[in-house]
Amino acid sequence: MSEEINEDELSKQFREYSVAEFFKRNRQMLGYTGKIRSLTTIVHEAVTNSLDSAEDARILPNINVEIKELPDGHFKLVMEDNGTGVPKKDVGKAFGKLLAGTKFHVLRQKRGQQGLGISYAVLFAQLTTGKPAHIKTGINHKVYECDITIDVKSNQPLITDEKEYSENFKGVRIEMEVSEVGYNRSEYGVYEYLRRTAIANPHAQITLTEPNGEIVLFPRASTVLPKVSEKVLPHPLGLTTADLIEMAHSSSARKIGSFFQNEFSRFSGDKVKELNDLNKEIDFNKTPASLTWAEAEAIVKSIQQLKWIAPETSVLIPIGEAQLVKALKSILKPEEMKVVERKPKVYRGGIPFAVEAAIAYGGESGGLVGGSRKLEVLRYANSTPLLFDAGNCAISEAVKGIDWSRYDLGKIEEMPITIFVNFVSVYVPFTGTSKLAVSPEEEIISEIKLALMESARSIGIYLHTLQHAQDEEERRSIFMRYIGEVAECIQDLTGNDSDKIKKKLEIIAKERTAIAEEGDKIEDDLGEEEGDEDEEE
Ligand SMILES: Nc1ncnc2c1ncn2[C@@H]1O[C@H](COP(=O)(O)OP(=O)(O)OP(=O)(O)O)[C@@H](O)[C@H]1O
Ligand SMILES: [Mg+2]
Repeated sequence: MSEEINEDELSKQFREYSVAEFFKRNRQMLGYTGKIRSLTTIVHEAVTNSLDSAEDARILPNINVEIKELPDGHFKLVMEDNGTGVPKKDVGKAFGKLLAGTKFHVLRQKRGQQGLGISYAVLFAQLTTGKPAHIKTGINHKVYECDITIDVKSNQPLITDEKEYSENFKGVRIEMEVSEVGYNRSEYGVYEYLRRTAIANPHAQITLTEPNGEIVLFPRASTVLPKVSEKVLPHPLGLTTADLIEMAHSSSARKIGSFFQNEFSRFSGDKVKELNDLNKEIDFNKTPASLTWAEAEAIVKSIQQLKWIAPETSVLIPIGEAQLVKALKSILKPEEMKVVERKPKVYRGGIPFAVEAAIAYGGESGGLVGGSRKLEVLRYANSTPLLFDAGNCAISEAVKGIDWSRYDLGKIEEMPITIFVNFVSVYVPFTGTSKLAVSPEEEIISEIKLALMESARSIGIYLHTLQHAQDEEERRSIFMRYIGEVAECIQDLTGNDSDKIKKKLEIIAKERTAIAEEGDKIEDDLGEEEGDEDEEE
């Protein structure tokens, strides 16, 4: 017989732990793997916040990132912006408490979502060097500075060395010392991250000071600010039972009926009635706080049976064709490019998203591999570069899923080509807390493919025309090479003047190569018609 279990002993082993303790042990979940990536992750957290804040303040962002290697191998980081700044009373929560922020509870197209990014960077500095982060923030000529560490056990900020004074400083400056990080210009490094950020944010000016003292400027390519992202109410079709319970229980509406009308989009009085007709046993006049799980589950089921107007998509803000063209030109200087903007669609039934894509060829397109340029795929979500975890991402899946040879791009891997994809949504379905990849859902992959195929078609035509011009030139030069000799021989045979013969032969050669070209073109046109029952919608 088995021994009796000692409940007290068992109970002694039971402990609660804070979110800070959890992520202290699981830094890889937030993108902190490897020295180069860890440094990039910190810069990414600061820069995304800066861009979000500049957008709120309707300011053209100026972002400075300085990285210095200290003699003991630690790195000193300074990241500064000219955005809204953070009110003094919120500084502790913003930089010294995990899962606290202004973005989580609002459905709105933003780079940040979780309230975790910069506060974890502060914790990372603390965990690797034992030093606090220094924050300076300025709003309306009032400046506040302090040192922050995080009490890991309670996930609370500890603020020391506070200073307040007047100065014309606006925005946020974060200084921190970190270890277990490294710097280089590789695909995963800070330089590449900022280069990609600049491509998708042509309105931003970004300056990077590298550890060797080199200053790199990614200049502003456009002074047009992105449109303001508006809040959206959730669409009923994207709703889960857990979401509904959470919303209902924190709602201030008096009745279930008004709760639906006030807190969801597309929920008219008529719709509430239809829903009530399908769920007669639920009292729609009671408070939303009293909604039970079983009732919520029944409601979510019947929501799927009703007909709904599609979700509001005007809240999506892509970079836009004109802006993207400017940015790609400024950074890649391509010979040719094609930008495609797809109309908004929805995934999971109710969440609006849009895809914008571009393919750029030549110039500085493509990633440098051993001195030559080869295909690079730039993945973005809400204009933020996704540098790692390419394997499990809707964008990579879409790129893999295209038969590039149909567009004369069969050797795309070896070509000087940059593929750009930006996934835009009020809620990006990231595959994990580190926000590195867009969940490979069917509706999303299909939209990305359609956008890329349209770009590919255009680049394919360009390359084809280029190839033709080269072929013609080659053919002509072969004729030309022998014309002198042929003319001499004809003079020997016929006694006619070789110069005149040469001139005539040159005219004939030009005419003939043109005719040959015409012939090729006709063949190609026929070929295209045959093979072009394309993958369009
Ligand atoms: N540079 C900044 N300018 C203005 N506000 C900032 C800045 N940095 C941080 N904040 C404020 O601090 C909050 C917490 O930032 P944090 O990066 O931790 O989370 P988040 O941006 O909300 O979400 P995510 O974890 O997805 O990045 C933000 O929501 C924002 O309100
Ligand atoms: Mg953030």
